Amino acid sequence: MSSLCLQSPNGKSKVLNPPFYLAGTVEKGDGRGAKLGFPTLNIKTGNLYIPYGVYVVLAKIEEQVLKGIAHVGIIETFDINKPRVEVHLLDFKGDLYNQRVEINILKLLRQVHKFKTPQDLIVQMQEDEKIARNFLKNL
Ligand SMILES: Cc1cc2nc3c(=O)[nH]c(=O)nc-3n(C[C@H](O)[C@H](O)[C@H](O)COP(=O)(O)O)c2cc1C
Repeated sequence: MSSLCLQSPNGKSKVLNPPFYLAGTVEKGDGRGAKLGFPTLNIKTGNLYIPYGVYVVLAKIEEQVLKGIAHVGIIETFDINKPRVEVHLLDFKGDLYNQRVEINILKLLRQVHKFKTPQDLIVQMQEDEKIARNFLKNL
């Protein structure tokens, strides 16, 4: 394991804090996010050295800088145990497959949870969005 990787096996870390940076390519996800009302860019990255969590981010795509909220980690609610980076852009609609994206992770909103129902996750993501918008308007 690299010395940069200060994660414990469950992905939680009290050592590292934002800001973090990562870059990758947008690949096809499972399409579940759109059904939940929160479509996401699935970012294919190399090794992940960022603690699992839900974050406020800025995403740079071509020359555009877009605001977003990101999930880094396993998707416990749907029993997906392979870590992922997913970004929901706040004011963007469109197809970005295969584009390179640079992500600046600005602020930790919360830890990743396993929700009892998809509806509970939706309610939490709506709350995440509210807090993120409030944080981003002051930038
Ligand atoms: C802001 C945000 C917060 C999220 N928080 C959680 C979480 O706490 N627990 C979880 O299991 N999944 C969480 N997710 C991941 C969603 O479950 C995931 O985006 C959804 O299943 C869609 O996956 P897909 O794009 O591969 O279809 C979050 C996603 C976003 C965008």
